[in-house]
Amino acid sequence: MRSGTLLEEALTAGCEVVGSDLDADAVAIARQNVPRAVVDRADVLNLPQDDAAFDAVVSNLPFGRQFPVQDPARWLRQALAEMARVTRPGGRIVVLVPSPLPRIGSELTLASSYPLRLLGVGTRIWVFDRGPASDGNYVPHSNDTAPARR
Ligand SMILES: C[S@@+](CC[C@H](N)C(=O)[O-])C[C@H]1O[C@@H](n2cnc3c(N)ncnc32)[C@H](O)[C@@H]1O
Repeated sequence: MRSGTLLEEALTAGCEVVGSDLDADAVAIARQNVPRAVVDRADVLNLPQDDAAFDAVVSNLPFGRQFPVQDPARWLRQALAEMARVTRPGGRIVVLVPSPLPRIGSELTLASSYPLRLLGVGTRIWVFDRGPASDGNYVPHSNDTAPARR
């Protein structure tokens, strides 16, 4: 298992990094692959970090196969809200998730997105700017569709 890829890339770019995963094996392998990184076992819906702890959060989110969730759109909205909580205002959030992106909190603004296909699934890298604290309203950002197979 190639766990810790993003941590390795961020370290190479000169960042200080903290990683987390819900799966104990993924955590152990990431620690082994990237010994200079701090890696916690944590649920993305309940991260152990303080508010505004990070300049940026980057995640290759699960597709819901390993740990099934009842309502994927709601789960993703909550995951993005928790990532926004631990990102400082003015920071960045970058996630890889299948299109279309569901509703997101008003504390996030879509900056850009990049389509790709992964394991036969139309997916997209989404880049958000973390604005000031949320007023609790959710706004739809995209009705985008999966990119065409090349
Ligand atoms: C697409 S893989 C990413 C693998 C790895 N993080 C990497 O790219 O180096 C998705 C990961 O999300 C983890 N995961 C699933 N549900 C999670 C949750 N609720 N909170 C945190 N991690 C979760 C899985 O264990 C899996 O390792």
